[in-house]
Amino acid sequence: MNVAARLEELRALIHYHNHRYHVLDDPEIADAEYDALFDELLALEADHPELVTLDSPSQRVGGAPLSGFRTVRHERPMLSLDKCTATGELEDWLKRCRTRLGDGETIRLICEPKIDGVAVALTYENGLLTLGATRGDGNTGEDITANVRTIGAVPLKLTADDVPPRMEVRGEIYMPLDAFERFNERALASGQKPLINPRNGAAGSLRQLDPRLTAQRPLTMFCYGLGWAEGGWTPASHSEVMAKLAGWGLRVNADAAAFDDIDSVETYLDGLLARRDKLGYDIDGVVVKVDSLAQQDALGAVTRKPRWAIAYKYPAEEATTRLLDVEFQVGRTGAVTPVARLEPVFVGGVTVSNATLHNMDEIARLDVHIGDTVMVRRAGDVIPQIIKVVEGKRPRNAKAVALPVVCPVCGSDIVREEDGAVARCSGGVVRCEAQRKEGIKHFASRLAMDIEGLGDKLVEQLADAGLITDPADLYGLDLETLAALPRMAKKSSENVLAALEKSKHTTLARFIYALGIREVGEATAAGLASHFGELEPLMAADQTALEAVEDVGPVVARSIVRYFEDPAHRQMIRRLIEAGVTWEPVQVVSPDEQPLAGQTWVLTGTLESMTRDEARARLTALGAKVAGSVSKKTTQVVAGPGAGSKLDRAEALGVPVMDEAALIALLEANGVGVD
Ligand code: IVH
Repeated sequence: MNVAARLEELRALIHYHNHRYHVLDDPEIADAEYDALFDELLALEADHPELVTLDSPSQRVGGAPLSGFRTVRHERPMLSLDKCTATGELEDWLKRCRTRLGDGETIRLICEPKIDGVAVALTYENGLLTLGATRGDGNTGEDITANVRTIGAVPLKLTADDVPPRMEVRGEIYMPLDAFERFNERALASGQKPLINPRNGAAGSLRQLDPRLTAQRPLTMFCYGLGWAEGGWTPASHSEVMAKLAGWGLRVNADAAAFDDIDSVETYLDGLLARRDKLGYDIDGVVVKVDSLAQQDALGAVTRKPRWAIAYKYPAEEATTRLLDVEFQVGRTGAVTPVARLEPVFVGGVTVSNATLHNMDEIARLDVHIGDTVMVRRAGDVIPQIIKVVEGKRPRNAKAVALPVVCPVCGSDIVREEDGAVARCSGGVVRCEAQRKEGIKHFASRLAMDIEGLGDKLVEQLADAGLITDPADLYGLDLETLAALPRMAKKSSENVLAALEKSKHTTLARFIYALGIREVGEATAAGLASHFGELEPLMAADQTALEAVEDVGPVVARSIVRYFEDPAHRQMIRRLIEAGVTWEPVQVVSPDEQPLAGQTWVLTGTLESMTRDEARARLTALGAKVAGSVSKKTTQVVAGPGAGSKLDRAEALGVPVMDEAALIALLEANGVGVD
């Protein structure tokens, strides 16, 4: 085959796989295979620069830096949206539409997540992407074509026969949440400034004059409409437009839906809000649109806002408030964590008065002072974070935050660990009451020994009364002692004793996790249990033996060795076993004999009896790989209520789907059940 033909073939192949990966979220080949195609393309193009075309995938990686962005006038203005926050206002809006359209017209409504990103307009001429422009003031924006070209989800070329000769597609470029978090973790680890939030991340990335920098940012795009089209295409509805765009390879949101009545719209609004933190991207509400383009035309626009659409806004996930104080909490491992006390503020649907500050490095990075006005972010059920200090609002008497010299609980020295980030109370469980209490709370917690009714408050009470100093003491409690505590009746005391009794029959994985060994989370504990099969070999294992366990590295191994070296820990374990704590024998299986070895599972929707992390840990313990997206290679999808596009995709691809009850049955049958 000649070079030109091979190049064309490679471009077509890469284009195809790129679309599967970035737009359909459903790759057919492994990353390495894709890379091989790409490398071949780059090599051939390097030898034959005269054969490089503008739509070649190689042209995505980012060209030479620009000195500035050219201003472009939009052929049709990019409008903004009217907004509302209550369903009553939405109903009023629909009534106004009805009045304008006249009686007898049925109005079909489209609901789409309102993506919190950056609006862009993409111009395609004869199928080729020729312009990417920001919204700007609605009339003129900036030419960010070089940056837009680096985004995998944006096709450089549309090949279908019916693509209009010229058209402009509009949509939102955004940074997915997992990519945002990964980007920030890496930025922090390499001492760079993290992004404030995904929206700023997307906006900042598109504003880079050097497209090579944009190419490194994890951006993607949802298209949500057509700006204009030439060539006689006359779609009848928004949904028809969207179906075409998707057919041409543009990425559209599978969570959009059409409804014929307002009640169903309101059900959608509630349903999407409930799933908001599981979507994987930030939304600030829902856009409700009239589907019929004839009706849209008839309704028209006022003052740069169409009458045919409205934004229903959800509670904001960011708000500003004042930092009243910073206190230091001592955790189970002695880690001293600064906690921000805030002037209460309504954010993410709840009133927030505390936020985590992680560690002293974070305080230094944010340059946060007591008295500052700060921006707080609370997305989903993630702990509220301070993301920045609002500049120019620092009061004159603002106070710098200092790490205390001694533990606020036990008075022992606070030491900074080698890497500097974590400060720890040096008292250990022997001297530090906070560490003792936290250790016992952890031991009793749901994923550990699961002692129902033994909540944090009761642990505090028992420890304060000097009745328990370590987990083993729990099994020595009696009815008389418990019932004598304030706010403890006979019945609740009996319940706690029954729960303690029940907790004695556990699994080795839970027991290991319950010990609270530093660096040993639920998944590691499960891995250790199935590797060693019993407690003694684990206790006797040295660094090398531990590192042989999957996912156990030197740091984790060292921590485990240190834990079991301590005679106090060994004695406590002995007392627990003497008190009657037992576990089912574990069958040690080699990785390829694990029941779900070689399988890929996907979890979607809400699970009720466990979190997705817990489900993932259990499936992983059985040898499965748990993936984030459904493809032909997916073995099994577990779908809970609210499952969306992943479930649709599974059904389309014929991937088997089970519900939570079936998952629980499977986990139980394999000894990693919920109870
Ligand atoms: S339609 C004339 N659909 O919201 C209406 N907009 O306040 C055009 N946005 O700047 C917008 N998701 O960038 C529409 N599914 C969606 C959207 C969406 C986010 C943004 C858009 C616009 C802003 C309007």
